[in-house]
Amino acid sequence: HIDAPFELVLFGGLGDLALRKLMPALFLLESDGRLPDGAIYAVTRRDMNRDEFVAKIEKSVKSHVPSNYLEKEPLDRFLSKVHCLTHDVNDHQGYKNLSKTLSSDDINRLYYMATGSDLYTPVCKGLHDAGLIQSQSKIVLEKPIGHDLGTAQAINDTVAEYFKEKQIYRIDHYLGKETVQNLMVLRFANSLFESQWNQNYIDHIQITISEQLGVEQRAGFYEHVGAMRDMFQNHLLQLLCITAMEPPAKLEPDAVRDEKVKVLKALKPITGTAINENVVRGQYDSGVAEGKPVPRYRDEPGVHHKSLTETFISAKVEIDNWRWAGVPFYLRTGKRLAERACEIVVQFKEIPHSIFPLQHKNTMANKLIFRLQPDEGVRLMLCEKRVGPGMNVRPMNLSLNPSNQRQTRVPEAYERLLFDALSGNATLFLRDDELLEAWRWVDPIIKHWEEQEQRPEPYTAGSWGPAAATLLLARDGRLWDENS
Ligand code: BG6
Repeated sequence: HIDAPFELVLFGGLGDLALRKLMPALFLLESDGRLPDGAIYAVTRRDMNRDEFVAKIEKSVKSHVPSNYLEKEPLDRFLSKVHCLTHDVNDHQGYKNLSKTLSSDDINRLYYMATGSDLYTPVCKGLHDAGLIQSQSKIVLEKPIGHDLGTAQAINDTVAEYFKEKQIYRIDHYLGKETVQNLMVLRFANSLFESQWNQNYIDHIQITISEQLGVEQRAGFYEHVGAMRDMFQNHLLQLLCITAMEPPAKLEPDAVRDEKVKVLKALKPITGTAINENVVRGQYDSGVAEGKPVPRYRDEPGVHHKSLTETFISAKVEIDNWRWAGVPFYLRTGKRLAERACEIVVQFKEIPHSIFPLQHKNTMANKLIFRLQPDEGVRLMLCEKRVGPGMNVRPMNLSLNPSNQRQTRVPEAYERLLFDALSGNATLFLRDDELLEAWRWVDPIIKHWEEQEQRPEPYTAGSWGPAAATLLLARDGRLWDENS
């Protein structure tokens, strides 16, 4: 539960993330009766009167929460909890004003940094100097934290001057998605899968996060970041960690994070010439997305016409440990791809010998597919007999979603994570060393690209990315999963 009264101070309070994800998630918590007495302060540089502010928050909730979950009474209750705080994070005086608004008691207070990571240091210092960090205060840091290993390390060090590690919540919203937690339950609450979860039985694993959206209005942010820092260094590597980690001894923050760090440390480094062989970098060209013609990345508003920023990455990643030796993990993510999907596909090895006539050879191997979006679910691909004469085998899908759970609303990732942060559960957040290990692996690849100054390979908007991404698997005699 969340200790009452709570205070949530949201820096970047009227930004894209706050309006699209955080406010709607907080409303859903309120509507489920999980948000106790407290106040939510949206910190913004803009001067806004209360009516204008409330109208903006109401609009954001109404446009991002399905209408069947929008009831007037919880919405009114929620709107009475939100307040606007005009404050420039670089203005020293502003923190003194903040301290007049916030409670002087040491209460359950969460500072949420929905801003670029360059502001983390000045905000922490401002809060500290105004005496606003107490033993019950916590801070949430959004990704990407830093621009490379060096800057991430510097942010870790400065934040650590003001907050203890147990007060710091480094968020990766993919860990809040229901299916990711279900992956842990399927792995560690069943003996069936875990006994097969290794190089003896698994051929390879694919993890895809594909988006149909382009860069939208975020070029100012995205141009300096690209797919490697925006999606790969965090979301994709986190999904890889949860898939590949050893069973933690307990479901406790450090027990889980210890295991994830071990995976990151065991990632085989990709450096030098291996980078071009194992990592594909793409940038979308014009094409068609969701039935409409769309411009190329270089023609998007705010994007440099000779931009070298990648909007697509795919990589063949190996984990040098006993469990995963020789099992490649193929990871890919991109904007303006054919579909919006996120899937983890565990491809088991073929049976050693078949006694049946095989029609489609590669449909014989079992697959376990975790789908995170657009719909959430798990399915196991098995083989069954085709009804009729003969002994023909065909693939069949076994859905592992118990039907009695289908009626239950699937909580949004941010809803789960905001609740966890407010109630002090850091299991699904990253520890300092975990963040650094992820950067340590990514850093040589980013540095190599920066030195090369090469344009990423163009791909048609609405396709599955550059041809080289298909070749990455084809040269190993494999294909990307056809359903993703
Ligand atoms: C964010 C990235 O972390 O994740 C965005 O910054 C991306 O570029 C988004 O669009 C995708 O999240 P989801 O939950 O919609 O798949």
